[in-house]
Amino acid sequence: MKLEQMGALQRTHNCGALRKEDAGNEAVLMGWVHHRRDLGGLFFIDLRDRHGTTQVVFRPDDDSELHAKAGELGAEYVIAVRGEVSQRPDGTINPDLPTGEVELVARELLVLNASLTPPFVLEEPVKASDELRLEYRYLDLRRPHMQRLIEARHVAAHATRAYLTEQGFLEIETPLLAKKTPEGARDFVVPSRVHPGKVYALPQSPQLYKQILMVGGCDRYFQIARCLRDEDLRSDRQPEHTQIDFEMSFVTEDDVFGVAEGLMQSIWRAVRGDELTIPFPRLAYRDAMQRYGTDKPDVRFGLEIVDLTSALRESEFKVFRSVIEGGGVVRCLNASGCAGWSRKDIDTKEALAKKWGAKGLAWAKVDGGSLMGGISRFMSEGEVAAIIEGTAATDGDIILFVADKEATVARVLGNLRVALRDELSLVSADEFAFTWVTEFPLFAWNEDAGAWEAEHHMFSMPREQDLELLETDPGKVLGRLYDLVCNGFELASGSIRIHRRDIQERVMKVVGMSAADADRRFGFLLKALEYGAPPHGGLAPGLDRIIMILTGEAGIRDTIAFPKTYSGLSLMDGSPSDVEQEVLDELGIRLVEKRVPAAGENDD
Ligand code: AMO
Ligand code: AMP
Repeated sequence: MKLEQMGALQRTHNCGALRKEDAGNEAVLMGWVHHRRDLGGLFFIDLRDRHGTTQVVFRPDDDSELHAKAGELGAEYVIAVRGEVSQRPDGTINPDLPTGEVELVARELLVLNASLTPPFVLEEPVKASDELRLEYRYLDLRRPHMQRLIEARHVAAHATRAYLTEQGFLEIETPLLAKKTPEGARDFVVPSRVHPGKVYALPQSPQLYKQILMVGGCDRYFQIARCLRDEDLRSDRQPEHTQIDFEMSFVTEDDVFGVAEGLMQSIWRAVRGDELTIPFPRLAYRDAMQRYGTDKPDVRFGLEIVDLTSALRESEFKVFRSVIEGGGVVRCLNASGCAGWSRKDIDTKEALAKKWGAKGLAWAKVDGGSLMGGISRFMSEGEVAAIIEGTAATDGDIILFVADKEATVARVLGNLRVALRDELSLVSADEFAFTWVTEFPLFAWNEDAGAWEAEHHMFSMPREQDLELLETDPGKVLGRLYDLVCNGFELASGSIRIHRRDIQERVMKVVGMSAADADRRFGFLLKALEYGAPPHGGLAPGLDRIIMILTGEAGIRDTIAFPKTYSGLSLMDGSPSDVEQEVLDELGIRLVEKRVPAAGENDD
């Protein structure tokens, strides 16, 4: 087919613009052939661009040559059409389409480009595999669903810039070729040609630079920052993600929370038109773990975990008694209204609990104001009363118990709570429940390494009253660190930072970093802290996760225009790719071994 130039033809409207009021006017549209239908000699083409689709009609009686040309158009051809806007006859109006009351009666057609037959149909919902969609990302991006995600991301970024600017923040870029940063993942490294044997690291976050900007007197900084981490991927993790990174001088938690709450409000308002209620509730880490079994609780629904350890200390049920004697806990969930579960239903839940590390899942149903079945026969009258009161159970409920070490019980009941949320449809997708989780321990004990490590990163300030415990009982030190959680996802993380060298050195010592090591890795920060570093703190909301939650996506992959697969591949451009010998020679690098990923390793 002969391809043509746009020539003098100028686009007058996009494909989502025409309305009934335009009837009788001439219009020129340009876009992609979405569909062609042949109805009794008439050709109908749905012409699509980012803004929508418009129906174009080619009538054989009007212009047979034009009509014949339209007959040759294939899917995804790029065309320009000049025509007359016409109101659709009654009965042919499409109420689902903003342009559905009109059609464009074609007078001139230019074929600007042809297309090979697309490897998948650009339909909603798309049926193609993820691999195919990623390989032909430019086709996938044309789908209205993908366009909506891209637009939502733009709107969120725009609202972010407007809000933070209004709050007195400066947008400042920090280096991509950087010194190793400490977010706990592996770094991507970039060899230096000019300094053979030396590398830059791509930043896992701008953490140290933003702190140094505070020392530099910038007062309020933000950046929509790309962060690069060589870590194992999952649905809410990509090797490149984007943070709305901000930092403030002379602040306490309340100041940081206030800015973050206003920021979330601005983003939600801009993207969804919703008004979020602020301030967000706050929950101490300890309470989150006890009541929800996780530090990222979904608080859209109740189904809270209830601790029965003290009520069941003397229990005749051996499992409970011995676990409690061994220092463990007994906790339960009240699955309200689920007493109708069959034995098989209960076994399925028990199998899940075991998969998550429980030794079993004890149960009892509530009937006639008492407990029935399961472990009820082992329970004394007092224990039955304590269980029913503690769980506020009523007839028709079933109570599910786990006895184990506290961490295991939290994990199992936390997971079970989320599984029940989905099974019982306890939440709606249009609901957003934000919570601050505060008072995290500053350090976590790493069993494998036999050492303390920073729970978040090692630049977070210990609570003042816990400073003296740094050397004596690090596990008890709570930090001034906080996460912002929404619907069970960690959306943001931050802290009030250490702004004094002496405290920073003590914290580094706890995580086993020698003075020499600290100096080699973070000497530049330690030095800066000695030149009048102001008290400061900040936060970094993950933009990809925000868009995921806002748009109801199951993962972050489609919130990113060009994402990677779980094994870190870009299927469209084929990166990572082989490197030429000349490049290696120039960098002074010799490859020792080239490991080929095992079968199944590139799974998606
Ligand atoms: P953190 O490592 O917790 O903190 O990251 C902050 C937020 O970034 C998002 N996020 C990710 N999103 C997608 N893919 C990933 N691989 C990924 N990793 C993190 C999450 C997370 O809450 N410098 C500190 C912040 C600070 O202390 O101010 C930091 O990077 O939404
Ligand atoms: P058993 O006495 O081992 O047959 O267990 C009786 C019930 O207690 C079964 O429903 C088990 O799943 C449950 N069970 C066993 N160990 C535990 C545990 N550690 N926590 C909760 N329930 C358990």
